[in-house]
Amino acid sequence: NKAKMVVDKDFTIGEVDKRIYGSFIEHLGRAVYGGIYEPGHSSADEQGFRGDVLELIRGIDVPIVRYPGGNFVSGYNWEDGVGPVESRPSRLELAWRTVEPNLFGLNEFADWCRKAGTEAMMAVNLGTRGPEEARQLVEYANHPSGTYWSDLRAQHGYKEPHHIKTWCLGNEMDGPWQIGAKTAAEYGRIATETAKVMKWVDPSLELVACGSSNLGMPTFPEWEATVLDLCYDHVDYISLHTYYGNRDKDSANFLAQSMGMDSFINTVISTADYIQAKKRGKKKINLSFDEWNVWYHSNDADRQIEPWTVAPPQLEDIYNLEDALLVGCMLISILKRADRVKMACIAQLVNVIAPIMTANGGAAWKQTIYYPYMHASIFGRGTALVPLIHSPKYDAKDYTDVPYLEAVAVHNEEQSEVTIFAVNRNLTESLPLDIDLRSFGSFTLIEHIVLEHDDLKAANTLETPDRVAPHPNGSAVVTGSTVEALLGKASWNVIRLK
Ligand code: AHR
Repeated sequence: NKAKMVVDKDFTIGEVDKRIYGSFIEHLGRAVYGGIYEPGHSSADEQGFRGDVLELIRGIDVPIVRYPGGNFVSGYNWEDGVGPVESRPSRLELAWRTVEPNLFGLNEFADWCRKAGTEAMMAVNLGTRGPEEARQLVEYANHPSGTYWSDLRAQHGYKEPHHIKTWCLGNEMDGPWQIGAKTAAEYGRIATETAKVMKWVDPSLELVACGSSNLGMPTFPEWEATVLDLCYDHVDYISLHTYYGNRDKDSANFLAQSMGMDSFINTVISTADYIQAKKRGKKKINLSFDEWNVWYHSNDADRQIEPWTVAPPQLEDIYNLEDALLVGCMLISILKRADRVKMACIAQLVNVIAPIMTANGGAAWKQTIYYPYMHASIFGRGTALVPLIHSPKYDAKDYTDVPYLEAVAVHNEEQSEVTIFAVNRNLTESLPLDIDLRSFGSFTLIEHIVLEHDDLKAANTLETPDRVAPHPNGSAVVTGSTVEALLGKASWNVIRLK
Protein backbone atom coordinates (compact mmCIF):
# COMPACT_ATOMS: atom_id res chain seq x y z
CA ASN A 1 0.00 0.00 0.00
CA LYS A 2 2.71 2.38 -1.03
CA ALA A 3 2.29 5.49 -3.14
CA LYS A 4 4.74 6.33 -5.87
CA MET A 5 5.37 9.61 -7.63
CA VAL A 6 7.60 10.24 -10.65
CA VAL A 7 8.74 13.79 -11.35
CA ASP A 8 10.74 14.73 -14.43
CA LYS A 9 12.02 18.22 -15.11
CA ASP A 10 11.05 17.98 -18.79
CA PHE A 11 7.44 17.02 -18.07
CA THR A 12 6.25 20.52 -17.41
CA ILE A 13 2.68 21.70 -16.89
CA GLY A 14 3.53 25.38 -17.18
CA GLU A 15 4.99 28.44 -15.56
CA VAL A 16 3.34 29.23 -12.25
CA ASP A 17 1.86 32.72 -12.46
CA LYS A 18 2.42 34.10 -8.97
CA ARG A 19 -1.06 35.65 -9.08
CA ILE A 20 -2.56 32.19 -8.36
CA TYR A 21 -1.64 32.97 -4.76
CA GLY A 22 -3.99 35.96 -4.67
CA SER A 23 -6.68 36.71 -2.13
CA PHE A 24 -9.79 38.83 -1.68
CA ILE A 25 -11.04 41.66 0.54
CA GLU A 26 -14.74 42.49 0.26
CA HIS A 27 -16.73 45.14 2.10
CA LEU A 28 -18.37 42.37 4.09
CA GLY A 29 -18.44 41.63 7.80
CA ARG A 30 -15.17 42.54 9.49
CA ALA A 31 -12.89 42.12 6.45
CA VAL A 32 -12.29 45.86 6.10
CA TYR A 33 -13.59 47.40 9.35
CA GLY A 34 -11.90 45.59 12.25
CA GLY A 35 -9.83 43.52 9.81
CA ILE A 36 -7.38 45.46 7.68
CA TYR A 37 -8.62 48.86 8.92
CA GLU A 38 -9.11 49.72 12.56
CA PRO A 39 -8.08 53.25 13.56
CA GLY A 40 -7.35 53.30 17.28
CA HIS A 41 -6.01 49.74 17.33
CA SER A 42 -2.65 49.59 19.10
CA SER A 43 -0.92 48.39 15.92
CA ALA A 44 -2.70 50.80 13.52
CA ASP A 45 -0.66 53.27 11.48
CA GLU A 46 -1.57 56.90 10.70
CA GLN A 47 -4.10 55.67 8.08
CA GLY A 48 -5.74 53.24 10.47
CA PHE A 49 -4.28 50.13 8.80
CA ARG A 50 -3.64 47.35 11.31
CA GLY A 51 0.11 46.62 11.44
CA ASP A 52 -0.33 43.17 12.99
CA VAL A 53 -2.57 42.13 10.10
CA LEU A 54 -0.19 43.63 7.51
CA GLU A 55 2.63 41.58 9.03
CA LEU A 56 0.67 38.32 8.76
CA ILE A 57 -0.23 39.15 5.16
CA ARG A 58 3.38 39.91 4.28
CA GLY A 59 4.26 36.48 5.73
CA ILE A 60 2.24 34.89 2.89
CA ASP A 61 3.59 37.21 0.16
CA VAL A 62 0.15 37.76 -1.39
CA PRO A 63 0.69 38.99 -4.96
CA ILE A 64 -2.80 40.34 -5.77
CA VAL A 65 -5.97 41.18 -3.79
CA ARG A 66 -9.44 41.37 -5.33
CA TYR A 67 -11.62 44.28 -4.09
CA PRO A 68 -14.31 45.57 -3.18
CA GLY A 69 -16.55 42.52 -3.86
CA GLY A 70 -18.04 39.99 -4.24
CA ASN A 71 -21.79 40.45 -3.99
CA PHE A 72 -21.15 43.88 -2.43
CA VAL A 73 -19.86 45.33 -5.70
CA SER A 74 -23.17 44.79 -7.51
CA GLY A 75 -24.79 47.63 -5.52
CA TYR A 76 -21.71 49.79 -4.93
CA ASN A 77 -21.20 53.40 -6.00
CA TRP A 78 -17.42 53.72 -6.01
CA GLU A 79 -17.71 57.53 -5.75
CA ASP A 80 -19.12 57.10 -2.21
CA GLY A 81 -15.71 55.87 -1.09
CA VAL A 82 -13.48 58.71 -2.35
CA GLY A 83 -12.95 62.33 -1.29
CA PRO A 84 -13.12 63.85 2.21
CA VAL A 85 -14.18 61.14 4.65
CA GLU A 86 -16.55 63.47 6.53
CA SER A 87 -18.65 63.98 3.39
CA ARG A 88 -18.95 60.31 2.45
CA PRO A 89 -22.45 58.82 2.81
CA SER A 90 -23.49 55.82 4.87
CA ARG A 91 -25.57 53.48 2.73
CA LEU A 92 -27.84 50.50 3.18
CA GLU A 93 -25.84 47.59 1.76
CA LEU A 94 -28.32 45.12 0.25
CA ALA A 95 -26.05 42.17 -0.54
CA TRP A 96 -25.18 41.50 3.10
CA ARG A 97 -27.91 43.60 4.82
CA THR A 98 -25.52 45.90 6.64
CA VAL A 99 -24.76 49.64 6.79
CA GLU A 100 -21.68 50.65 4.77
CA PRO A 101 -20.02 53.75 6.29
CA ASN A 102 -17.62 54.31 3.36
CA LEU A 103 -14.70 55.25 5.61
CA PHE A 104 -12.47 53.11 3.40
CA GLY A 105 -12.55 53.22 -0.40
CA LEU A 106 -10.46 53.01 -3.55
CA ASN A 107 -7.65 55.38 -2.53
CA GLU A 108 -7.26 53.84 0.91
CA PHE A 109 -7.21 50.40 -0.72
CA ALA A 110 -4.46 51.49 -3.15
CA ASP A 111 -2.38 52.79 -0.21
CA TRP A 112 -3.04 49.64 1.77
CA CYS A 113 -1.93 47.46 -1.19
CA ARG A 114 1.40 49.30 -1.33
CA LYS A 115 1.93 48.69 2.38
CA ALA A 116 0.95 45.03 2.07
CA GLY A 117 3.32 44.57 -0.89
CA THR A 118 0.48 43.49 -3.14
CA GLU A 119 -1.35 44.56 -6.29
CA ALA A 120 -5.04 45.51 -6.61
CA MET A 121 -7.56 43.55 -8.68
CA MET A 122 -10.64 45.77 -8.92
CA ALA A 123 -14.21 44.73 -9.68
CA VAL A 124 -16.72 47.05 -11.36
CA ASN A 125 -20.45 47.11 -10.62
CA LEU A 126 -22.43 45.48 -13.43
CA GLY A 127 -25.47 44.86 -11.21
CA THR A 128 -26.99 48.33 -10.77
CA ARG A 129 -24.52 50.15 -13.04
CA GLY A 130 -22.81 49.75 -16.39
CA PRO A 131 -20.19 50.95 -18.89
CA GLU A 132 -20.45 54.66 -18.04
CA GLU A 133 -19.57 54.32 -14.35
CA ALA A 134 -16.91 51.69 -15.11
CA ARG A 135 -15.09 53.91 -17.60
CA GLN A 136 -15.25 56.84 -15.17
CA LEU A 137 -13.75 54.65 -12.47
CA VAL A 138 -10.88 53.58 -14.76
CA GLU A 139 -10.29 57.25 -15.68
CA TYR A 140 -10.25 58.19 -11.98
CA ALA A 141 -7.93 55.33 -11.03
CA ASN A 142 -5.53 55.19 -13.96
CA HIS A 143 -5.59 58.29 -16.20
CA PRO A 144 -2.57 60.56 -15.51
CA SER A 145 -4.25 64.03 -15.41
CA GLY A 146 -6.02 66.82 -17.29
CA THR A 147 -9.56 65.33 -17.28
CA TYR A 148 -12.48 65.66 -14.89
CA TRP A 149 -12.05 62.28 -13.16
CA SER A 150 -8.23 62.19 -13.09
CA ASP A 151 -8.10 65.74 -11.74
CA LEU A 152 -10.67 64.82 -9.11
CA ARG A 153 -8.31 62.06 -7.96
CA ALA A 154 -5.51 64.65 -7.69
CA GLN A 155 -7.83 66.92 -5.69
CA HIS A 156 -8.43 64.00 -3.37
CA GLY A 157 -4.70 63.92 -2.67
CA TYR A 158 -3.61 61.32 -5.25
CA LYS A 159 -1.70 63.08 -8.03
CA GLU A 160 -0.16 59.85 -9.31
CA PRO A 161 -2.47 57.31 -10.98
CA HIS A 162 -2.89 53.97 -9.27
CA HIS A 163 -2.06 51.93 -12.41
CA ILE A 164 -4.54 49.16 -11.58
CA LYS A 165 -4.15 46.55 -14.34
CA THR A 166 -6.55 43.75 -13.51
CA TRP A 167 -10.33 44.26 -13.44
CA CYS A 168 -13.33 41.98 -12.96
CA LEU A 169 -16.42 42.75 -15.04
CA GLY A 170 -19.00 42.35 -12.26
CA ASN A 171 -19.43 39.44 -9.86
CA GLU A 172 -21.41 36.19 -10.07
CA MET A 173 -23.91 37.72 -12.47
CA ASP A 174 -25.64 34.34 -13.01
CA GLY A 175 -26.70 34.09 -9.34
CA PRO A 176 -30.32 34.93 -8.40
CA TRP A 177 -28.90 36.34 -5.12
CA GLN A 178 -26.93 38.94 -7.05
CA ILE A 179 -28.18 42.54 -7.18
CA GLY A 180 -28.98 43.00 -10.88
CA ALA A 181 -28.49 39.32 -11.87
CA LYS A 182 -28.55 38.69 -15.61
CA THR A 183 -29.03 36.00 -18.21
CA ALA A 184 -25.89 34.91 -20.03
CA ALA A 185 -26.88 36.91 -23.11
CA GLU A 186 -27.66 40.05 -21.09
CA TYR A 187 -24.38 39.75 -19.21
CA GLY A 188 -22.32 38.92 -22.32
CA ARG A 189 -23.55 42.12 -23.96
CA ILE A 190 -23.00 44.46 -21.00
CA ALA A 191 -19.60 42.88 -20.30
CA THR A 192 -18.60 43.51 -23.93
CA GLU A 193 -19.69 47.14 -23.94
CA THR A 194 -18.09 47.77 -20.55
CA ALA A 195 -14.84 46.09 -21.58
CA LYS A 196 -14.65 48.19 -24.76
CA VAL A 197 -14.84 51.55 -23.01
CA MET A 198 -12.60 50.50 -20.11
CA LYS A 199 -9.89 49.40 -22.56
CA TRP A 200 -10.37 52.57 -24.63
CA VAL A 201 -9.54 54.58 -21.49
CA ASP A 202 -6.59 52.31 -20.63
CA PRO A 203 -5.51 49.75 -23.26
CA SER A 204 -3.16 48.04 -20.81
CA LEU A 205 -6.03 46.60 -18.74
CA GLU A 206 -6.59 42.86 -18.33
CA LEU A 207 -10.26 41.96 -17.93
CA VAL A 208 -12.01 39.02 -16.29
CA ALA A 209 -15.51 38.00 -17.41
CA CYS A 210 -17.81 36.29 -14.91
CA GLY A 211 -18.10 32.55 -15.29
CA SER A 212 -20.64 30.50 -13.36
CA SER A 213 -20.93 31.09 -9.62
CA ASN A 214 -20.19 27.44 -9.03
CA LEU A 215 -20.14 24.03 -10.68
CA GLY A 216 -23.69 23.32 -9.48
CA MET A 217 -25.37 26.23 -11.27
CA PRO A 218 -28.06 24.92 -13.67
CA THR A 219 -26.67 27.09 -16.48
CA PHE A 220 -23.10 25.76 -16.16
CA PRO A 221 -21.28 25.44 -18.62
CA GLU A 222 -23.71 26.93 -21.16
CA TRP A 223 -23.22 30.25 -19.35
CA GLU A 224 -19.48 30.24 -20.12
CA ALA A 225 -20.10 29.37 -23.79
CA THR A 226 -22.71 32.12 -24.31
CA VAL A 227 -20.78 34.78 -22.41
CA LEU A 228 -17.48 34.05 -24.15
CA ASP A 229 -19.19 33.83 -27.53
CA LEU A 230 -20.29 37.43 -26.96
CA CYS A 231 -17.17 38.89 -25.36
CA TYR A 232 -14.28 36.70 -26.56
CA ASP A 233 -12.60 39.60 -28.41
CA HIS A 234 -12.73 41.93 -25.41
CA VAL A 235 -11.78 39.87 -22.35
CA ASP A 236 -8.71 37.95 -21.21
CA TYR A 237 -9.95 35.64 -18.45
CA ILE A 238 -13.06 33.81 -17.33
CA SER A 239 -13.74 33.47 -13.60
CA LEU A 240 -14.49 30.36 -11.51
CA HIS A 241 -15.78 30.29 -7.92
CA THR A 242 -16.18 27.34 -5.57
CA TYR A 243 -16.64 26.72 -1.85
CA TYR A 244 -16.75 23.35 -0.13
CA GLY A 245 -18.13 22.21 3.23
CA ASN A 246 -18.43 19.15 5.45
CA ARG A 247 -22.07 19.54 6.50
CA ASP A 248 -22.62 15.75 6.56
CA LYS A 249 -19.61 15.18 8.83
CA ASP A 250 -18.11 12.83 6.25
CA SER A 251 -14.42 13.75 6.21
CA ALA A 252 -13.38 11.18 3.57
CA ASN A 253 -15.93 12.66 1.17
CA PHE A 254 -15.04 16.22 2.23
CA LEU A 255 -11.38 15.72 1.31
CA ALA A 256 -12.30 14.20 -2.06
CA GLN A 257 -14.02 17.41 -3.18
CA SER A 258 -10.92 18.85 -4.84
CA MET A 259 -11.61 16.23 -7.55
CA GLY A 260 -14.73 18.28 -8.31
CA MET A 261 -12.50 21.34 -8.58
CA ASP A 262 -10.26 19.46 -11.06
CA SER A 263 -13.21 18.68 -13.29
CA PHE A 264 -14.63 22.23 -12.93
CA ILE A 265 -11.30 23.66 -14.17
CA ASN A 266 -11.05 21.16 -17.02
CA THR A 267 -14.61 21.84 -18.20
CA VAL A 268 -14.09 25.62 -18.22
CA ILE A 269 -10.85 25.18 -20.19
CA SER A 270 -12.69 22.99 -22.74
CA THR A 271 -15.50 25.52 -23.05
CA ALA A 272 -13.09 28.45 -23.52
CA ASP A 273 -11.18 26.46 -26.14
CA TYR A 274 -14.40 25.53 -27.92
CA ILE A 275 -15.24 29.23 -28.27
CA GLN A 276 -11.70 29.98 -29.44
CA ALA A 277 -12.11 27.30 -32.13
CA LYS A 278 -15.53 28.62 -33.09
CA LYS A 279 -14.09 32.12 -33.51
CA ARG A 280 -11.01 30.83 -35.36
CA GLY A 281 -9.29 32.92 -32.70
CA LYS A 282 -5.63 33.11 -31.74
CA LYS A 283 -6.22 34.15 -28.17
CA LYS A 284 -6.46 31.62 -25.33
CA ILE A 285 -8.89 32.67 -22.63
CA ASN A 286 -7.20 31.81 -19.35
CA LEU A 287 -8.83 31.14 -15.99
CA SER A 288 -9.13 33.35 -12.94
CA PHE A 289 -10.24 31.16 -10.02
CA ASP A 290 -11.02 34.30 -8.10
CA GLU A 291 -13.02 32.81 -5.22
CA TRP A 292 -12.20 29.46 -3.63
CA ASN A 293 -12.11 28.09 -0.09
CA VAL A 294 -13.93 26.06 2.54
CA TRP A 295 -17.09 27.87 3.70
CA TYR A 296 -19.85 26.37 5.87
CA HIS A 297 -18.97 26.62 9.56
CA SER A 298 -20.53 30.06 10.00
CA ASN A 299 -23.77 29.52 8.04
CA ASP A 300 -26.02 29.07 11.10
CA ALA A 301 -24.43 31.91 13.08
CA ASP A 302 -24.91 34.25 10.11
CA ARG A 303 -28.66 33.66 10.15
CA GLN A 304 -28.77 35.09 13.71
CA ILE A 305 -27.06 38.40 12.82
CA GLU A 306 -29.14 41.58 13.21
CA PRO A 307 -29.46 43.36 9.88
CA TRP A 308 -28.37 46.94 9.22
CA THR A 309 -25.39 47.21 11.53
CA VAL A 310 -21.82 48.25 10.62
CA ALA A 311 -19.27 45.42 10.21
CA PRO A 312 -21.04 42.57 12.04
CA PRO A 313 -19.11 39.27 12.44
CA GLN A 314 -20.31 37.65 9.20
CA LEU A 315 -18.88 34.52 7.55
CA GLU A 316 -16.41 34.00 10.42
CA ASP A 317 -15.55 30.35 9.78
CA ILE A 318 -13.15 28.93 12.35
CA TYR A 319 -11.04 26.45 10.41
CA ASN A 320 -9.77 23.09 11.64
CA LEU A 321 -7.10 20.66 10.44
CA GLU A 322 -9.29 18.91 7.85
CA ASP A 323 -10.14 22.29 6.31
CA ALA A 324 -6.43 23.00 5.94
CA LEU A 325 -6.00 19.62 4.20
CA LEU A 326 -8.72 20.41 1.67
CA VAL A 327 -7.26 23.89 1.11
CA GLY A 328 -3.95 22.12 0.40
CA CYS A 329 -5.68 19.79 -2.09
CA MET A 330 -7.34 22.80 -3.75
CA LEU A 331 -3.98 24.57 -4.11
CA ILE A 332 -2.65 21.38 -5.72
CA SER A 333 -5.66 21.36 -8.12
CA ILE A 334 -4.80 24.91 -9.19
CA LEU A 335 -1.10 24.06 -9.65
CA LYS A 336 -2.00 20.98 -11.72
CA ARG A 337 -3.49 23.40 -14.31
CA ALA A 338 -0.87 26.13 -13.94
CA ASP A 339 -0.82 26.23 -17.74
CA ARG A 340 -4.29 27.82 -17.79
CA VAL A 341 -5.17 29.04 -14.30
CA LYS A 342 -3.26 32.30 -14.20
CA MET A 343 -4.99 33.97 -11.27
CA ALA A 344 -6.73 32.64 -8.19
CA CYS A 345 -7.95 34.28 -4.99
CA ILE A 346 -8.50 32.41 -1.75
CA ALA A 347 -11.69 33.97 -0.40
CA GLN A 348 -11.16 35.85 1.66
CA LEU A 349 -8.10 37.27 3.48
CA VAL A 350 -9.11 38.60 6.90
CA ASN A 351 -11.99 37.56 9.24
CA VAL A 352 -14.44 36.66 6.45
CA ILE A 353 -13.81 32.96 5.55
CA ALA A 354 -10.17 33.83 5.97
CA PRO A 355 -6.71 32.54 6.85
CA ILE A 356 -6.23 35.51 9.21
CA MET A 357 -8.52 36.35 12.14
CA THR A 358 -8.61 39.37 14.42
CA ALA A 359 -10.34 40.43 17.61
CA ASN A 360 -11.64 44.00 17.49
CA GLY A 361 -9.13 45.98 19.55
CA GLY A 362 -7.20 42.74 20.21
CA ALA A 363 -4.85 40.21 18.67
CA ALA A 364 -4.56 38.80 15.15
CA TRP A 365 -3.83 35.11 14.57
CA LYS A 366 -3.31 32.46 11.90
CA GLN A 367 -6.08 30.00 11.14
CA THR A 368 -5.12 26.44 10.12
CA ILE A 369 -5.61 27.26 6.43
CA TYR A 370 -2.99 30.01 6.66
CA TYR A 371 -0.25 27.38 6.53
CA PRO A 372 -0.86 25.51 3.25
CA TYR A 373 -1.63 28.86 1.59
CA MET A 374 1.61 30.38 2.89
CA HIS A 375 3.71 27.33 1.97
CA ALA A 376 2.36 27.23 -1.58
CA SER A 377 2.84 30.96 -2.08
CA ILE A 378 6.38 31.01 -0.68
CA PHE A 379 7.71 27.71 -2.08
CA GLY A 380 5.41 27.12 -5.07
CA ARG A 381 6.92 29.54 -7.58
CA GLY A 382 8.63 28.37 -10.76
CA THR A 383 7.44 25.65 -13.15
CA ALA A 384 4.75 23.17 -12.18
CA LEU A 385 5.68 19.58 -13.09
CA VAL A 386 3.33 16.78 -14.12
CA PRO A 387 2.71 14.55 -11.09
CA LEU A 388 2.75 10.95 -12.27
CA ILE A 389 1.13 9.22 -9.33
CA HIS A 390 0.37 5.62 -8.38
CA SER A 391 -1.57 5.64 -5.16
CA PRO A 392 -3.93 3.37 -3.25
CA LYS A 393 -7.47 4.65 -3.61
CA TYR A 394 -10.81 4.75 -1.82
CA ASP A 395 -14.43 5.32 -2.69
CA ALA A 396 -16.32 8.17 -1.00
CA LYS A 397 -20.01 9.08 -1.09
CA ASP A 398 -19.73 11.43 -4.09
CA TYR A 399 -16.40 10.39 -5.62
CA THR A 400 -14.91 7.03 -6.62
CA ASP A 401 -11.26 6.08 -7.01
CA VAL A 402 -10.06 8.91 -4.80
CA PRO A 403 -6.26 8.66 -4.50
CA TYR A 404 -5.04 8.84 -0.90
CA LEU A 405 -2.09 10.80 -2.25
CA GLU A 406 -2.78 14.23 -3.76
CA ALA A 407 0.47 15.85 -4.86
CA VAL A 408 2.29 18.13 -7.28
CA ALA A 409 5.87 19.35 -7.71
CA VAL A 410 7.18 22.83 -8.51
CA HIS A 411 10.66 23.42 -9.93
CA ASN A 412 12.18 26.76 -9.02
CA GLU A 413 14.98 27.01 -11.61
CA GLU A 414 16.38 30.26 -10.18
CA GLN A 415 16.94 28.75 -6.74
CA SER A 416 17.66 25.24 -8.10
CA GLU A 417 14.98 23.88 -5.82
CA VAL A 418 12.15 21.42 -6.21
CA THR A 419 9.23 21.45 -3.78
CA ILE A 420 6.71 18.66 -3.47
CA PHE A 421 3.33 19.51 -1.97
CA ALA A 422 1.51 16.38 -0.82
CA VAL A 423 -1.64 15.55 1.14
CA ASN A 424 -2.32 12.14 2.63
CA ARG A 425 -6.13 11.86 2.56
CA ASN A 426 -6.06 8.64 4.59
CA LEU A 427 -7.66 9.57 7.92
CA THR A 428 -6.41 6.58 9.90
CA GLU A 429 -3.13 5.39 8.40
CA SER A 430 0.21 6.79 7.30
CA LEU A 431 1.12 6.50 3.64
CA PRO A 432 4.61 5.37 2.56
CA LEU A 433 5.69 7.42 -0.46
CA ASP A 434 8.58 6.93 -2.92
CA ILE A 435 9.40 9.86 -5.18
CA ASP A 436 11.58 9.27 -8.23
CA LEU A 437 13.17 12.48 -9.54
CA ARG A 438 15.31 10.62 -12.07
CA SER A 439 16.14 13.52 -14.43
CA PHE A 440 17.40 15.86 -11.73
CA GLY A 441 20.59 14.17 -10.51
CA SER A 442 21.34 14.27 -6.80
CA PHE A 443 19.39 16.23 -4.26
CA THR A 444 19.77 17.15 -0.64
CA LEU A 445 16.80 17.67 1.63
CA ILE A 446 16.24 21.26 2.76
CA GLU A 447 13.30 20.33 4.98
CA HIS A 448 10.15 18.27 5.21
CA ILE A 449 7.43 20.44 6.78
CA VAL A 450 4.28 18.73 8.10
CA LEU A 451 0.92 20.07 9.23
CA GLU A 452 -0.90 17.38 11.25
CA HIS A 453 -2.78 16.91 14.53
CA ASP A 454 -4.34 13.99 16.38
CA ASP A 455 -7.69 15.72 16.22
CA LEU A 456 -9.00 16.43 12.71
CA LYS A 457 -11.26 19.09 14.21
CA ALA A 458 -8.47 20.94 16.06
CA ALA A 459 -8.56 24.69 15.34
CA ASN A 460 -6.67 27.85 16.26
CA THR A 461 -8.55 30.48 18.27
CA LEU A 462 -7.83 33.73 20.08
CA GLU A 463 -7.15 31.68 23.24
CA THR A 464 -5.14 28.89 21.52
CA PRO A 465 -3.61 30.52 18.42
CA ASP A 466 -0.89 27.89 17.95
CA ARG A 467 -2.81 24.67 18.54
CA VAL A 468 -2.39 23.63 14.91
CA ALA A 469 0.97 24.69 13.47
CA PRO A 470 3.46 23.08 11.10
CA HIS A 471 6.61 21.32 12.31
CA PRO A 472 9.82 20.63 10.33
CA ASN A 473 10.25 17.02 11.47
CA GLY A 474 8.84 15.12 8.52
CA SER A 475 10.40 11.75 7.77
CA ALA A 476 11.68 12.33 4.21
CA VAL A 477 15.05 10.78 3.43
CA VAL A 478 16.86 11.57 0.18
CA THR A 479 19.21 9.19 -1.60
CA GLY A 480 20.50 10.60 -4.86
CA SER A 481 17.42 11.43 -6.86
CA THR A 482 14.93 9.40 -4.85
CA VAL A 483 12.96 10.43 -1.79
CA GLU A 484 11.37 8.09 0.72
CA ALA A 485 8.86 9.47 3.17
CA LEU A 486 6.10 8.28 5.43
CA LEU A 487 3.26 10.78 5.20
CA GLY A 488 1.39 10.87 8.50
CA LYS A 489 -2.36 10.13 8.45
CA ALA A 490 -4.37 13.21 7.43
CA SER A 491 -1.35 15.41 6.82
CA TRP A 492 -0.16 18.29 4.61
CA ASN A 493 3.47 17.90 3.57
CA VAL A 494 6.00 20.22 1.98
CA ILE A 495 9.18 18.40 0.90
CA ARG A 496 11.86 20.88 -0.16
CA LEU A 497 14.86 19.66 -2.15
CA LYS A 498 17.97 21.38 -3.46
O1 AHR B 1 -16.86 35.43 -0.65
C1 AHR B 1 -18.16 35.53 -0.18
C2 AHR B 1 -19.20 35.65 -1.31
O2 AHR B 1 -19.25 34.44 -2.01
C3 AHR B 1 -18.91 36.68 -2.37
O3 AHR B 1 -19.38 37.94 -2.03
C4 AHR B 1 -19.69 36.15 -3.55
O4 AHR B 1 -19.12 36.52 -4.76
C5 AHR B 1 -19.72 34.66 -3.32
O5 AHR B 1 -21.00 34.14 -3.46
